[in-house]
Amino acid sequence: LSRHPLGSFESHRGGLWESVRHSSSSPKVALLGASGGIGQPLGLLLKQDKLIANLALYDVVNTPGVAADLSHIDTNAKVSAYTGSGELHAAVEGADVVVIPAGVPRKPGMTRDDLFNTNAGIVRDLVAAIAKASPKALIAIITNPVNSTVPIAYEVLKKAGVYDKRRVFGVTTLDVVRAQAFVAELKGLDASKTTVPVIGGHAGITIIPLLSQVKPATKFTDDEIKKLTPRIQDAGTEVVNAKAGAGSATLSMALAGARFTNALLRGLKGENNVQCSYVASDAVKGVEYFSTPVELGPNGVEKILGVGKVSAYEQQLIDAAVSELNKNVQKGVAFVK
Ligand code: NAD
Ligand code: LMR
Repeated sequence: LSRHPLGSFESHRGGLWESVRHSSSSPKVALLGASGGIGQPLGLLLKQDKLIANLALYDVVNTPGVAADLSHIDTNAKVSAYTGSGELHAAVEGADVVVIPAGVPRKPGMTRDDLFNTNAGIVRDLVAAIAKASPKALIAIITNPVNSTVPIAYEVLKKAGVYDKRRVFGVTTLDVVRAQAFVAELKGLDASKTTVPVIGGHAGITIIPLLSQVKPATKFTDDEIKKLTPRIQDAGTEVVNAKAGAGSATLSMALAGARFTNALLRGLKGENNVQCSYVASDAVKGVEYFSTPVELGPNGVEKILGVGKVSAYEQQLIDAAVSELNKNVQKGVAFVK
């Protein structure tokens, strides 16, 4: 009998299905919003992550079915289901990492900020439960508007007296994934070996791809930069419009979310690694939250690596993003206070 060699994939960038040394601990990941458009494929990918011993699926609906389905996959992560707020505490208790894609997605014509009224309360309540049940967990927030939901999470943890700025992450990995796909396509590079840092936030002009820092070193004409930058900034809207009312990016987001979760887990076990993420940061003057490359390790954020050397055009983008980000941050902070 031969087995499909899923477990032996060496994924690019140190990635998702990397063959890993056996770890004696039993990492638990809780996925909140597990029955949704992102939640289901993300659960599928997390079920294949060899670093996860326990995968707790939480949603307000349909979790038993998703869990029964995933639990028939012959990988070692043990899957459990939790439904509704009465089971939230148990879902997140003892979690090392909590990943949150719970909340409504955009339809054509909406901005991410238009989701604030519904999603702010969802994130607040989920993080309040985490503060009680697993205050040391690393929290990865996918729910939009990320520029505001991350400050909301911080404020909730502060209120609960368990604030640790190293442990809350806005997941901006999809911006990096897209930038790498688009650059590789344009320049005929191997997408699996192309890296593009994307900094700032996760909405419109706050998304700042650093094309001057692409690896392998790549030259772009001004015209290429002026076309590629807005394409990366508006890529989420490109998917929202193509889905025409059926939601936003789910499959590429699931990949990005699984990749980021794996990076957090590797960090927790001492395999420090660098990812872009939107976190509490002093990297850029005049704003308290900013995505830059950060070093992940046993405590979450070990080091903020900053924006590095940028072009004059990229510096203009950073300057323009700061006031927009401040508005988003203030809105989140005011919601909790
Ligand atoms: P979806 O509607 O398909 O799924 C959302 C899930 O959340 C549903 O299963 C729903 O039941 C669940 N949910 C709602 N309230 C909940 C609560 N209080 N507790 C637990 N679960 C709850 O939406 P989706 O396409 O999966 O998108 C989810 C979110 O992710 C949206 O806010 C979207 O904008 C965001 N998103 C972010 C990125 C990013 O790059 N950060 C990318 C894509 C989507
Ligand atoms: C994305 O970038 O795809 C997500 O933020 C979803 C959206 O609303 O665009």
